[in-house]
Amino acid sequence: MQSYQGRRTVVTGAASGMGEATTALLRAAGAEVHAIDIAPIRADVMSASQCDLSDPSQIESAIADIGGPIDALFCCAGLAQTHPPLRVMAVNFLGTRHVVESALPHMAEGSAVAVISSVAGFAWKEAWGLHKSLHATDSIDEGIAWCEAHAEAVGDGYSFSKQALTSWVFVQTPVLAQRGLRINTLCPGMTETPMMPDFEKTVGDQLAALPCPIGRRSTAEEQAHALLFLNSVEAAYLTGAELFNDGGATAAMNMGMAEAMAGAIQEDKHG
Ligand SMILES: NC(=O)c1ccc[n+]([C@@H]2O[C@H](COP(=O)([O-])OP(=O)(O)OC[C@H]3O[C@@H](n4cnc5c(N)ncnc54)[C@H](O)[C@@H]3O)[C@@H](O)[C@H]2O)c1
Repeated sequence: MQSYQGRRTVVTGAASGMGEATTALLRAAGAEVHAIDIAPIRADVMSASQCDLSDPSQIESAIADIGGPIDALFCCAGLAQTHPPLRVMAVNFLGTRHVVESALPHMAEGSAVAVISSVAGFAWKEAWGLHKSLHATDSIDEGIAWCEAHAEAVGDGYSFSKQALTSWVFVQTPVLAQRGLRINTLCPGMTETPMMPDFEKTVGDQLAALPCPIGRRSTAEEQAHALLFLNSVEAAYLTGAELFNDGGATAAMNMGMAEAMAGAIQEDKHG
């Protein structure tokens, strides 16, 4: 296990699933944990802020109450597409971005940020122009106005929010590196948490079609271990990484695409 002895950490989404598992591992590794969630937080933590990540003033006051230094920030909170698209965008991308931006002034050289995106953010390059223009919004309200004007692209909000988050992490990587800060994203595959039934209800057919070489779903704790690694002192050279902790799903999808492309090239040559 990574050592977090004496490190001050903040975890969003700490009431459930991966955020709750991350909080438990951090406590066991000796960290001081400050937890943020809209739902009541059961874990034994240094402070617990009940905060709606769609509301900038609640985010700012939660982070101000925690204060500095923040050595490691874990952004785990999120919503599935059972919620209205604008709320999904507000929590998964705009609110998470606001948490990071609010925490940064409290983070000194050597500190790190890990955000949970998803395998669903895999195709961010396909809509990069749109994501770039969403990134240019300056606030949650401006971001929501942008989403209202681009409702078709936003769709149910889930994949689009995760794509926006993954690509935002990449944009931030060189900016934060100049200050000696690291930022990485974890892309979990199918994970047994209270969110899973929501995915089954909305995109169950797509889940069934996802390749799963390892042959089972992940536990929340397996995702939490990966998050602790991303923000650990031992990962000092790791920044701008998109860590697919997905039982081989992305590797299988990449190979499927590579085979399809190779097939198309062969057909072009011969046909
Ligand atoms: N479970 C999966 O298969 C899976 C796969 C890929 C990515 N993810 C992502 O992993 C992250 C963790 O999800 P999980 O599976 O542990 O689900 P979960 O539902 O158990 O946890 C999500 C947490 O976010 C909190 N949250 C929701 N809305 C909030 C708001 N407005 N303000 C503050 N907190 C809020 C919830 O209260 C909850 O505690 C999410 O970002 C999710 O999108 C999940």
